[in-house]
Amino acid sequence: MYPLRGPLWLFAILFSSRALSHPSTAPYLNTTTTGNPKVILDNDWNPTAFIAFLLPLFYNWTVLGLASDTANSWALQTGLHGLASLEIANLSSCIPVYKGSDYPLLQTAHTFQTYELLHGELPWKGVFAKENTTFEKLGNDPTSGDPRRIVKEAFTTKGYYGYPNVTFAEGSAAEFMVKAVRENPGRVRIFSAGALTNVALAVRLDPDFAKNTAGLYIMGGYVDRFLEQAIGDVLRADLVSDINFIVDPEATKIALTADFPNITLVANSANGVIPDQAFLDELVAVNDNPLSRLVRANQPTFLPFWDETAAAVMVDPEAVILDEVEVYVDVDTSYHSPLYGYIRPYQAALMPPGLRKVKYINKVNDTKVAEMIKTVVEFPPKDCSELGTGGKM
Ligand SMILES: *[C@@H]1O[C@H](CO)[C@@H](O)[C@H](O)[C@H]1NC(C)=O
Ligand SMILES: *[C@@H]1O[C@H](CO)[C@@H](O)[C@H](O)[C@H]1NC(C)=O
Ligand SMILES: *[C@@H]1O[C@H](CO)[C@@H](O)[C@H](O)[C@H]1NC(C)=O
Ligand SMILES: *[C@@H]1O[C@H](CO)[C@@H](O)[C@H](O)[C@H]1NC(C)=O
Ligand SMILES: *[C@@H]1O[C@H](CO)[C@@H](O)[C@H](O)[C@H]1NC(C)=O
Ligand SMILES: *[C@@H]1O[C@H](CO)[C@@H](O)[C@H](O)[C@H]1NC(C)=O
Ligand SMILES: *[C@@H]1O[C@H](CO)[C@@H](O)[C@H](O)[C@H]1NC(C)=O
Repeated sequence: MYPLRGPLWLFAILFSSRALSHPSTAPYLNTTTTGNPKVILDNDWNPTAFIAFLLPLFYNWTVLGLASDTANSWALQTGLHGLASLEIANLSSCIPVYKGSDYPLLQTAHTFQTYELLHGELPWKGVFAKENTTFEKLGNDPTSGDPRRIVKEAFTTKGYYGYPNVTFAEGSAAEFMVKAVRENPGRVRIFSAGALTNVALAVRLDPDFAKNTAGLYIMGGYVDRFLEQAIGDVLRADLVSDINFIVDPEATKIALTADFPNITLVANSANGVIPDQAFLDELVAVNDNPLSRLVRANQPTFLPFWDETAAAVMVDPEAVILDEVEVYVDVDTSYHSPLYGYIRPYQAALMPPGLRKVKYINKVNDTKVAEMIKTVVEFPPKDCSELGTGGKM
C-alpha cells in the first residue's frame, strides 16, 4: 500500500508487553455547554487515520467536523475515507465531513512531475504519483488524472472496512471552517495533517479567520532534509519528504504567515512511534471492537503514527511534549528551487520580512503517545449518544 522502504530500525520503538494502565471504560463528556476546546480536523483521510479524531473525543473535545484535503490522494477520495471511518465508528450523525478543494493552489501533476525531472524523484509522491489504473484496482487510492474519480476498491479490499453509505455535508471545507470559527470565536483549533489548501482558502476568504481560531496544529515541516540526505537517500525520501507541504507550497506559506494565535508544527518528532504486530494484536486482544479490528487489519507495521502523534501533541501537550522551540519559519515557494515546498527556519536576525514565530516540537514522549493511541482505539465511543451523556459508562 505504501511504497516506502528504509532503515526504519533506526526509529523502531520496542514496545514492552507490560500491562498499560487502561481505564476499564472510556468516559466521554457532552461538551456543548462546557468550555472545552472545539476542533476541526483536516486530513487526507485513510482507513486508520480516524485515530486522529478519537484522540480529541477522548479528551472531551468537541469535533465540529472533518475536512478532506488533497495530499496522498484527491480530496473526494480522502473525504470518502473520512465518511467511511465515521460510519464504522457510529459517529456519522454527530460529526459532518466537508469535502475540500480538489486542487492545490498552484501545484499540479504536471508541475510536480517536472520538478522531479529537474531535482530527482521523491519515492513518496502522494497524489501526484502517475495515474495507474491497475494499481488502483488492487485497492489503492487514486493519484493524478481526474480528481473527481472514485476508486471503490480502496474501500472494499480492506479488512473490516467498506464503501461509505453516508454523504458529505453541504458546502466546501474552507467555507465550513470560516463559518465554524465565526460561530465560536476563540474556541476552535484547526488540525491539519494533510496539505494546507483548505486552511489557506479559509484564511483568504475571511481576514479574521486565523486570528479568531484557537490555534493551528500541523503535521509537517521537516527541517533536516540535508542531514538525512547525508545519512542516506532512502531515509530522506521515506521519512523526510514533506509531502503535505510539497503538494501545496503556496497554501503552506499562506497558513504559516497568517495571524493564528499560535501555530504548532509536529514533524521529525512524529517519526518515533511505529507499531509492530504485537502492538496491533494487543489492541484487539484488550478490546475487540470494529475500530481495533480495522487498525489491526490495515495499519502498516513500518510507518510511524505521524498524524496521531500530532493529534496527541494537540490534546495533551503537557504530557506529550518533551522539547519544543520557538522559531520563525518561511516556506520555499520558488518553483525552480530544489527545496520547493520545504520550510526554512530562521532566527530573527537573519529572517526575511513577513514571517512569524511557530512552536516547533523537537521531541515527544513516544511511550505516552503509544499509550494514548492504544487507549483511544481500545475504548472508542460506541456512538454519538455516548459523547452526549456526560460519560455514560
Ligand atoms: C472526560 O469527561 C469525563 C466526564 O466528566 C471525565 O471523567 C474524564 O476524565 C474526561 N476525560 C479526560 C481525558 O479528561
Ligand atoms: C502499475 O501498477 C501495477 C500493479 O502494481 C504495476 O505492476 C505496474 O508496474 C505499474 N505501472 C507503472 C507504469 O508503474
Ligand atoms: C455500507 O453498507 C454496506 C452494505 O451493508 C456495507 O457492506 C459497508 O461496509 C457499509 N460501509 C461502511 C463504511 O460501513
Ligand atoms: C493558542 O492560543 C489559544 C487562544 O489564545 C489558546 O487558547 C491556546 O491555549 C494556545 N495554544 C498553544 C499551544 O499555545
Ligand atoms: C513518558 O511517558 C511515560 C508514560 O506515561 C512516563 O512513565 C514517563 O515518565 C514519561 N517520560 C518522560 C521523560 O516524561
Ligand atoms: C457501532 O454500533 C454497532 C451496533 O450497535 C456495534 O455493534 C458496534 O460495536 C459499534 N461500533 C463501535 C466502534 O463501537
Ligand atoms: C449536550 O448538551 C446540550 C445542552 O445541555 C443538549 O442540548 C444536547 O442535546 C446534548 N447533546 C447530546 C448528544 O445529548
